[in-house]
Amino acid sequence: MANIIDSAKGQFHHEIVSNPVTHGWVLNLYRGGERYPQRVCDYFQSDFAPTKELTVRLCQHAAEEDKHVHLFGKAISDLGQPVVEIEIGDVFNEVIRSFTPGSFHIVECDSPDVRRRKLANFLAHAHHLEKRVERSFAYHIDACERAGKSYVAEQVSRARQDEQGHVQYTRETVFDLMTRREAAEIMEVHCRAEAKANLIFSQRQVRLFLSKFSYTIPKRRQWLYRICATIMETAGQYA
Ligand SMILES: [Fe+2]
Ligand SMILES: [Fe+2]
Repeated sequence: MANIIDSAKGQFHHEIVSNPVTHGWVLNLYRGGERYPQRVCDYFQSDFAPTKELTVRLCQHAAEEDKHVHLFGKAISDLGQPVVEIEIGDVFNEVIRSFTPGSFHIVECDSPDVRRRKLANFLAHAHHLEKRVERSFAYHIDACERAGKSYVAEQVSRARQDEQGHVQYTRETVFDLMTRREAAEIMEVHCRAEAKANLIFSQRQVRLFLSKFSYTIPKRRQWLYRICATIMETAGQYA
């Protein structure tokens, strides 16, 4: 089943990049994810990091996500498409959080232990999110290159390179902040939330795509995507 969805995802990206309007739509979705930290108060809470080194790394991470907002904005403009602010409920990060227990938000009165735990939870959340985004960028870069849109592939590749670094340091830091057992438990909670969110988010976006842009693809493939959306929705309910 995973293989069918995998190849459908590759095909889906190929479909999307072949039309500037749908390509702009998906790039705006990516940009929405990159913009997300600017719209919430509990990402990259560097002031509460227990070490100078982590403070610096969190600030660097935040700056790189800001840079990605510009990269995607540029890619969208290069396609001649409008930059659109995505509804926060449609941003992948927000969908993951709807399946995530607890809060990352650190307040002054939190003890050092609570601060560490909240930071570890944020970093575990970020780790699984970044991992999925990095994989999605890989599909997208491949589709752009095959469609001869190397200028978009180049912008997305620059973001992808940073995401690979984010995937790695976030996991390492969870294990630095907590005991091995606590870290493994925290990672598991966020892994489950992300796995569920991925299915729910993907089926929602596939359906949105079909409702807005089905005229851009043949009927046979509309059915394929409809079936994939139903499989993902059902799997998401039980994930
Ligand atoms: Fe990013
Ligand atoms: Fe990232």
